[in-house]
Amino acid sequence: MVFILFVIVSALIVLLLLTNKKKYKNLPPGPYPWPIIGNVIEMAMIDIKYPHKALEKLSRKYGEIMKIQFGAHFMIVISSYEVMKEMLTKPEANIGRFVFPFVPDRAYGNPNRGIIFNSGESWQELKRYTIRTLRDFGFGKKNSMNGVMQEEVDELMSTIKGGVLDGLGEWEVDPHLLASSAINVLWSLVAGYRFSLEDKNLQEAVRLNDDILFACGLSNRYTAFPWVKTLFPKLSKHEEHLKCYAEMQKFLRRIIKDIQEKRSARSNQDAESYIEAFLDEIEKRKGTGDTNFTDDQLIVVLADLFLAGSETTSTSVNWMLYHLAMNGHVQEKVYDEICRVIGSDVTPTLDNEKSLVYMKATLYEMFRMSDIVPTPPPRILTDSITVRGYTLPKGAGVMYNMDPVLTDKVHWGDPDVFRPERFLSTNDDGTMQLVNTERVASFGFGKRLCLGETLAWNTVFLYVTNIFQTFKLSTIPGKMPPMEPINSATLSPDRYSLHFELRK
Ligand code: HEM
Repeated sequence: MVFILFVIVSALIVLLLLTNKKKYKNLPPGPYPWPIIGNVIEMAMIDIKYPHKALEKLSRKYGEIMKIQFGAHFMIVISSYEVMKEMLTKPEANIGRFVFPFVPDRAYGNPNRGIIFNSGESWQELKRYTIRTLRDFGFGKKNSMNGVMQEEVDELMSTIKGGVLDGLGEWEVDPHLLASSAINVLWSLVAGYRFSLEDKNLQEAVRLNDDILFACGLSNRYTAFPWVKTLFPKLSKHEEHLKCYAEMQKFLRRIIKDIQEKRSARSNQDAESYIEAFLDEIEKRKGTGDTNFTDDQLIVVLADLFLAGSETTSTSVNWMLYHLAMNGHVQEKVYDEICRVIGSDVTPTLDNEKSLVYMKATLYEMFRMSDIVPTPPPRILTDSITVRGYTLPKGAGVMYNMDPVLTDKVHWGDPDVFRPERFLSTNDDGTMQLVNTERVASFGFGKRLCLGETLAWNTVFLYVTNIFQTFKLSTIPGKMPPMEPINSATLSPDRYSLHFELRK
């Protein structure tokens, strides 16, 4: 049975490839695609652990725009900053997301749900609404966010101090603790309250988020081959992933119900959070026909914010701890600047961000070296376009790979060295200013730019400024942090411990 299916699918794919060859002329070069598997085995043979590294190697052979057959999906892969900037801001490549099999799975069977993987008018309306409404509650405003963030930093710092004292100066950096703390900053706007870091439901949701992120990555077995999830649901872990989505939705529904109950007991009925505002919008639009504002949409938007807003931010903090422990001389310069500009005893605030130029250069260097989202969710071409003489067909997926941009030897000279100075230039009066940061496009391009860029930057800034003002971090002899990152939809440090010495 499986064999017959295999033969039929192979024949269909060969036929499809032959038809495509005639239909799509003037495509960019790329490796020859094999029936069914396309170029996936080739990618796995180059680098089975890190698909972005395999794509980087292929792009060295085929160029800054290449085509690949990623299993069942025809993709254009962009590997240079110049083409990213040109192409990813064109309307044809700026509106739609490519629908990988996990997209409808985590959105009640409908790809037009939420923000990250949604497309067209539905995406546009929800993204605009979310930015505007979160702003009403302080999103992106330094004055409102400072207090919220400081509360989280204080709690995180006392938890780290506890861990450090228990561990006689050593602490295993806990990514789930960092993620719980980071989500709280966003959650104060989204839900109007913060979780306790000990909250078991939060801890479970953060753990679920890890599995969901893996399911959204290129290494997930049914991302390239959708049929794997039907033929081999157990082997593909599809059933496990469905369970994770359902659990996350249950967690979010409980939160909404809780908020509704608390609101009904309140005398002031004005919306006090994003969730309450969204619920009002659902009521307002009832009976108006096709609407984007439904209970299911709210759940998927919240799942998106949780997915995008916790792990990426906390992973950035985690990478800063990692890189500055490994590069003590940079850490000392960061500390000297904090003491010079703020003082060793004065609590840092977001207002200090303007003046801590070396810290900002260090953050850019962390984003460059860590490549946290190496292949952001692919776009889909909503119309054919011509780029660098190639005709790229409507419906093609567009993947962009940040790895070649961030590790380009020609541009950076010494890309393997952690050197914040590459982003600094000295003014005539001896002060420093940031330069050459545009290629570190860690938050994406064009209209699909990350919704949380400012929040993430500010959160990471405040967390690490507090941490490095308080502690001196160093590696532990005989326990060097692993060099290879964990790969899911993001790259994060593997588990490691550091020595934390109190500076004050
Ligand atoms: C350091 C932390 C973060 C990094 C590195 C990051 C990176 C990214 C990247 C690369 C994209 C894809 C952009 C593109 O397609 O060109 C993205 C999209 C997105 N991010 Fe972030 N992000 C971070 C934090 C956050 C936070 C805190 C939030 C929540 C407020 C958030 C919400 C989103 C959303 C909703 C999208 C989808 C935007 C769209 O498709 O229009 N992100 N992010």
